[in-house]
Amino acid sequence: MASTNLEKILLALYGVGSQPVTATQLAERLQISHKEVQNAVEELGQLGFVIEEHPQTGYHLIETPDILIADDLKARLAKKRISAKDPSPIGNEILVFKKTTSTNDVAQRLAREGYPEGVVIFAESQSDGRGRQGRKWISPANKGLWFTLLLRPKVSMQVVSQLTMISGVAVVTALRKSTGLPLSIKWPNDIQCYGRKIGGVLVEAGWEKQEMPYAAIGIGINVNIEKADFPEELRDIASSLKIEADKFFHPPTLATDILFEFAHCYALFLQGNFTDLLEQWIELDQTLGKQISLIHQDGRHIRGLASNIDPDGALLLRTDDGRIERIVAGEVSLEKVD
Ligand code: BTN
Repeated sequence: MASTNLEKILLALYGVGSQPVTATQLAERLQISHKEVQNAVEELGQLGFVIEEHPQTGYHLIETPDILIADDLKARLAKKRISAKDPSPIGNEILVFKKTTSTNDVAQRLAREGYPEGVVIFAESQSDGRGRQGRKWISPANKGLWFTLLLRPKVSMQVVSQLTMISGVAVVTALRKSTGLPLSIKWPNDIQCYGRKIGGVLVEAGWEKQEMPYAAIGIGINVNIEKADFPEELRDIASSLKIEADKFFHPPTLATDILFEFAHCYALFLQGNFTDLLEQWIELDQTLGKQISLIHQDGRHIRGLASNIDPDGALLLRTDDGRIERIVAGEVSLEKVD
């Protein structure tokens, strides 16, 4: 049976950093028995954590596994939160599935069952991962971050595109810091690196009398995908962090960095600071000021200059005949950015 103490033990081990800690110290600190400490440490060993035990100094955490484990993600997030005094509900509950159809499906089901804001659902792989406009999203096992945050922001449906934008800001800001790669956003929600797509955001909101009872923020990041994992037709346009940096990235660390940054951006959004977030979005964006061509949902192909973003997050496009078209995220797909 799974121990309920894994998260606590991991938080304590992350808290002491490279210092060792004895079983007695852990037991006292966590108000659990010596035996419970030993059981939890044994269980962590079975999950792939390398914890050395020295008779004099105690436990040393040497290595953590590359796979996503809910208790580990919660402990990592709690550690960052404690240092930043961040009381956000994001990630208070984290679920990791081996396989789902789509983490957005799970989030929407949990939303209807009444789960609270802040639950995050990860899947090692998705059999039916989806992108915008009904596209398939390939989600091979343990090679990327495929996850959905359940939010209940008590705002009107109008601001759905703002949620897409703050998600892009959070992901790109976090991943720039942790990978050092020059990631950018391509309007409305593509995460790009050196002109190739390495991730995306799919927001699916519930809708009731002009209100939004929940929003499922689905985020997909190609972390350690190899070129050969992509179908032939995507190899020139899609990429991964590993392909671009030529090194392996540790998914649990990146997942925690994104959730932490997301909590910060979401708090700003709830405080009504969308203007600050929009400024950050504009700094990270690579669409504005470029000639683009897009296909509207009504089938029209429109060409023009991506001239600005309005306060609701819609793209203002100056068309070749001088008109300004207001394009709402989710209604278009960009054909090409020159
Ligand atoms: C896009 O750029 O088209 C959006 C891609 C979003 C993919 C993620 S993976 C986790 C979540 N579950 C899904 O089925 N889709 C989103």
